[in-house]
Formats: sequence, C-alpha cells, structure tokens
Amino acid sequence: MDIETRRKWDNAARGYALMNGRGPEWRWAPPKRRLFSEMSGRVLFLAVGPGLDIQFFPPGREIVGLDISPMMLEAAAPLAEAYEGTLELRLLDVHDLDEPTGSFDQAFTSCTFCSVPDPVAGLEAVRRVLKPGGSLGMFEHTGSRFFPFSAMLDVMTPLTWRFGPEMNRDTVANVTRAGFVDVRVEPVYLDVVKIIRAVAS
Ligand SMILES: C[S@@+](CC[C@H](N)C(=O)[O-])C[C@H]1O[C@@H](n2cnc3c(N)ncnc32)[C@H](O)[C@@H]1O
Repeated sequence: MDIETRRKWDNAARGYALMNGRGPEWRWAPPKRRLFSEMSGRVLFLAVGPGLDIQFFPPGREIVGLDISPMMLEAAAPLAEAYEGTLELRLLDVHDLDEPTGSFDQAFTSCTFCSVPDPVAGLEAVRRVLKPGGSLGMFEHTGSRFFPFSAMLDVMTPLTWRFGPEMNRDTVANVTRAGFVDVRVEPVYLDVVKIIRAVAS
C-alpha cells in the first residue's frame, strides 16, 4: 500500500463530502446516473471515496467498491449499508488489486484516474481482473486540448496534486496505453469532464 497516497486522501476525507456533496454532485448527477445505470453482472467500482456516488447506483447490483483511504471508507460505510443490493467495501490500493484474473464483468470509475499515482499501472490492474470483453465505464475529468484551459489546468496541477488530483492528465490515452480497446469518449463538459467507455482485450 502506498502510504503517502493513503495519508493524502485521509486528509482530504475530512472536508471532501462537504466540498463536493452539493455543487459538483448535483451538477454531475444526470451523467453519473446514466453511466452507472449500465452496471450489470459482478461490478468493480473505484474509487468509492466518501460514498457520494452510491446514490447513483441502480438497485440490486453486485458491486465491490475499493478505496485506498480508511477515512474515505469510514464515511462511505453507512451509505454502502443503505444500498439496496450487494455493495462490499474494500480497503485496497488499486495497484495491489488481488482479485482473481477475469473475475469481474465490468469496472466503473468516478474521478479516480486523476488521483491514482500511476494511472497506466492502475488501469492495467483493472483490465487484468476483467473478463475478456468486460467493459470499463469511467466518469473522469482530464486535461484539455484547448487554450486557455490547457494552460490553466497545467498551472493548477502542481498545487492540486499536493492535496488531491492532477488536473491535466490524458486519461483517454492512458486507457489505450493500459491495453483497453474500442475506447469511446462522450464529452460532458467542454473536453474536460467526460465519460470514457472501453473494453478489456
Ligand atoms: C477525487 S476522489 C473521488 C472519490 C469519489 N469517486 C467521488 O467522485 O466523490 C479520488 C479517490 O481515489 C482514491 N484513490 C487514490 N489513489 C488510489 C489508489 N491507488 N487506489 C485506490 N484508491 C485510490 C482516493 O482515496 C479518493 O477517495
């Protein structure tokens, strides 16, 4: 387990739900709900954070939710318990994903691969535990190709990374680098917030 990353997100957990629970979650509720409505079979979800995404999960699904931060999972626990389906929370660094190869039908992420320290290795770990042909569905914010957003996100990243995510990642390219195929992008806000769908080869 990457202790430094765990500590960073434990620190962020204190104010996370307060900062994100209203504005961002209201704003992104419709696209998140739409993406997560695609959940079926045995589903891997990362990262759970304080559980703000759980309200958008369709009922009756079988989900394993991961996070590296015990403080985040502590906040998520009552929401997971109230979920009308099976939702098992696990304290785990995605880089150490120890589930058997090909044991999930689908994986979903939510503002996760802006935060995982080695995104390509993390996505490779996710691909390994998916069945061949299993699907990946991501709700992510990324860097931009367009000025001035690209420059703004580049300038912000050294600061935001100290306390939370990197703002300028090329997550779509990282999905391809990790060996996923049939990568499709649905823009949600500009070219920054997006849904990415891909298939495990
Ligand atoms: C920006 S938060 C998003 C949380 C939640 N999905 C949401 O949208 O509210 C990023 C989350 O990724 C988790 N995380 C960061 N690196 C991780 C890793 N290597 N393995 C598992 N979880 C990680 C953090 O603990 C944090 O909860």
